[in-house]
Amino acid sequence: MKTSAEIRSAFLKFFASKGHEVVASSPLVPGNDPTLMFTNSGMVQFKDMFLGAEKRSYTRAATAQRCVRAGGKHNDLENVGYTARHHTFFEMLGNFSFGDYFKRDAIHYAWELLTSVYGLPKEKLWVTVYHTDDEAFGIWEKEVGVPAERIVRIGDNKGAPYASDNFWQMADTGPCGPCSEIFYDHGEGVFGGPPGSADQDGDRYIEIWNLVFMQFDRSADGTLTPLPKPCVDTGMGLERLTAVLQHVHSNYQIDSMQALVKAAASVTNRTDFDNPSLNVIADHIRACSFMIVDGVLPSNEGRGYVLRRIIRRALRHGHKLGCKGLFFHKLVRTLDELMGEAYPELRQKRAQVEQVLKLEEEKFSETLDKGMKVFEAVTASGAKEIAGVDAFRLYDTYGFPVDLTADVARERGLTVDMAGFEHAMQQQKERGRAASQFEAQHVVTAETVKGLPATEFLGYGAVDAQGCKVVGLIRSGKLIDQVNDGESALVVLDRTPFYAESGGQVGDTGSLESALGTFRVDDTIKLAGTFFSHVGVWSGRTLTVGAVLDASVDAARRQQIILNHSATHLMHAALRKVLGEHVQQKGSLVAPDRLRFDFSHFQPVSDAELRQIERLVNAEIRANAEAEVHQMGMQEALDFGAMALFGEKYGERVRVLKMGDFSTELCGGTHVSRTGDIGLFKIVTEGGVASGVRRIEAFTGAGAEALVEHEEDQLAEVAALLSSSTDEVTSKLKKLFDKQRELERELESLKAKAAGAAIAELAEKPTEIAGIKVIAARLDGLDSKGLREAVDQLKNKLTDCAVVLASGAEGKITLIAGASGAALGKLKAGELIAHVAGQINGKGGGRPDMAQGGGEDGPNVASALASVATFAQSKLG
Ligand code: ALA
Repeated sequence: MKTSAEIRSAFLKFFASKGHEVVASSPLVPGNDPTLMFTNSGMVQFKDMFLGAEKRSYTRAATAQRCVRAGGKHNDLENVGYTARHHTFFEMLGNFSFGDYFKRDAIHYAWELLTSVYGLPKEKLWVTVYHTDDEAFGIWEKEVGVPAERIVRIGDNKGAPYASDNFWQMADTGPCGPCSEIFYDHGEGVFGGPPGSADQDGDRYIEIWNLVFMQFDRSADGTLTPLPKPCVDTGMGLERLTAVLQHVHSNYQIDSMQALVKAAASVTNRTDFDNPSLNVIADHIRACSFMIVDGVLPSNEGRGYVLRRIIRRALRHGHKLGCKGLFFHKLVRTLDELMGEAYPELRQKRAQVEQVLKLEEEKFSETLDKGMKVFEAVTASGAKEIAGVDAFRLYDTYGFPVDLTADVARERGLTVDMAGFEHAMQQQKERGRAASQFEAQHVVTAETVKGLPATEFLGYGAVDAQGCKVVGLIRSGKLIDQVNDGESALVVLDRTPFYAESGGQVGDTGSLESALGTFRVDDTIKLAGTFFSHVGVWSGRTLTVGAVLDASVDAARRQQIILNHSATHLMHAALRKVLGEHVQQKGSLVAPDRLRFDFSHFQPVSDAELRQIERLVNAEIRANAEAEVHQMGMQEALDFGAMALFGEKYGERVRVLKMGDFSTELCGGTHVSRTGDIGLFKIVTEGGVASGVRRIEAFTGAGAEALVEHEEDQLAEVAALLSSSTDEVTSKLKKLFDKQRELERELESLKAKAAGAAIAELAEKPTEIAGIKVIAARLDGLDSKGLREAVDQLKNKLTDCAVVLASGAEGKITLIAGASGAALGKLKAGELIAHVAGQINGKGGGRPDMAQGGGEDGPNVASALASVATFAQSKLG
């Protein structure tokens, strides 16, 4: 049995032996082609060659091209996992002729490769041709010897002229032409009819190779313009061909896909290798990895959203298999083993691919489980269709792309109200526009909330709380009774785990929910000091005061905030130890991605001091002291040694946070349980914000790790550029700079020598006019200083002379003129400059003995200089 890798290389070798250039696969993101989302066939990188807009050194080529068919024309995403042959990612083997051979050779090559090299039995092959293509029919029948009953003509069977299985086009515009397809007959045991018959969609006759006879360029209005020369574009899916050659029926049974299926089973802890979810994962890891290799990152629009949808679809299938942990990124290793040889870019970027996938997995795994529960809840009623608002809620709150919801729905025989979903989406966009008016809602006076009970904060120990009661709803600064689907509001609860922004720590985000719907919390703020108000948007049935909601804070985000908050305390203490007791907090921001701390200090913090601060903090992290919280009276706290912020108001009872013997500070924020939780602390920037106030920004935990990795990557990149080890980078660079300085000096002296020689030569043959020696010449390579020196040298040498010299660089001309001896007064330097500059779109001026000017470089420079002699004649003669 041949492996996929052998089949791939046999193809390339065969066409190389027929004079084809073997060209590397192009990236999945087409360079410079806005008509296409992803490279979807082998011809994409040759589009301009077909159109005659590009020429290369070869007229025939062969490739194994990585392709994605998801998003845009040729979209197979929703079929993947449900059929034996659909993929989001596949490899296309192709041979191409750019105005070189045409139908005859294309057909003969294909037949020879399939029957002689791959050894397929001739009687198992069927072919199709476009209904009017008698030429192709004739070649198959008369020259190749395929019996006429196995050659099928197919017309415009897709409802419009040239819309046919046998007329291929790249996209709505671009190269296209009739095609001839080769089918493999899997034999009587399998259901299905030959191409063109009513049962052609069965699995018996499978198309393996498409030979396109490129003849036209299709424009947006549908007109076909003949290409400069007829071309050939063929495409054969490696996976299908391999299935035929390995005598298996599904593409997922071939060696390479099976290796991925097995790996997927292993990371999800399964042994039922024929579970379709494993196929989905095996397919998706290929698409996602190569998309990332080619520069796509998960996002909410365009290619990035296609990637995100495929990743999330794979993760959902993992969830369906019962897999609880992160698994998807672990498959990149197997993929690299299988394909890294043929696609070196994958091997090179493997670590990056793993990292991107892992991050996306972490992100989605937080909401996937909850989203699935919501899905179960909304389908519990037995309705056959999932309402648009519910699909939208899954999308907006739980990150379920709507096709993922549709995928789950389909498994249960349900549908999704897509129009309803689109409508909800549209409404959200409109709300986004109204967001600026939303700010006004935050202005809530103490008067408004005075009747409400104060909020109890539960969030020191927990991020979730069940059964929290809505005690107040507020919009536009006023208490309201209810909030409807899609409306924004402030929600006040009797108790909450959400931390409201204060003391520099940002407010929590997350969700409040019940069977009624979900309130997406975008921020939490304090109202009148004692009320915690959740800011966000409600989706679901009407929410009223008195409703009971389950609150859950975005725990991963809160965790990042906590690390940054505790690290802020440690850094504050370290700053006072390193810089002195005059350091006072002037401002602080504790966000998920970073901490920012402003403090009094009168000069920049030196690199050595920053390093010392970082070390002190990291040593405290490693000491892993418990973060103790004490409640006490204010005076007691000060006696306890707690640092209080000057000018800050504190209540009667205060909360004191003590970490080891290092930091003791009054604080109402949320913190780590042990300093070790912070992991790592790295300062990113230091700078001044006002006189006597400095600002430091720093990262902790995974953020700090990412920073170190980023710096390592940069260093490695520099080292690679220098072909050195990272240790030797500095010495290599020093050497390089020394070398450069040496070369510059050498260049200077060579220039000076060359100028000296040129000047000497000019001095030999001046034009003499009435006893005055006149010189007008171009001396490139001299700057204005060099030119001036040259003019001076000539004046010294020739005594009674007038000189104009020009030098060109980057399209500009510099002019210097001089006059001396008998020339002075008769032929002024300034006049010479004006004469020349006037002809080259320039200007200039100066003294009679020395003047300077400039203009544009071009053919006029030579003629302007040549005219100087006549000009001098007119002045002197
Ligand atoms: N470009 C042709 C196809 O994709 C060969 O089928």
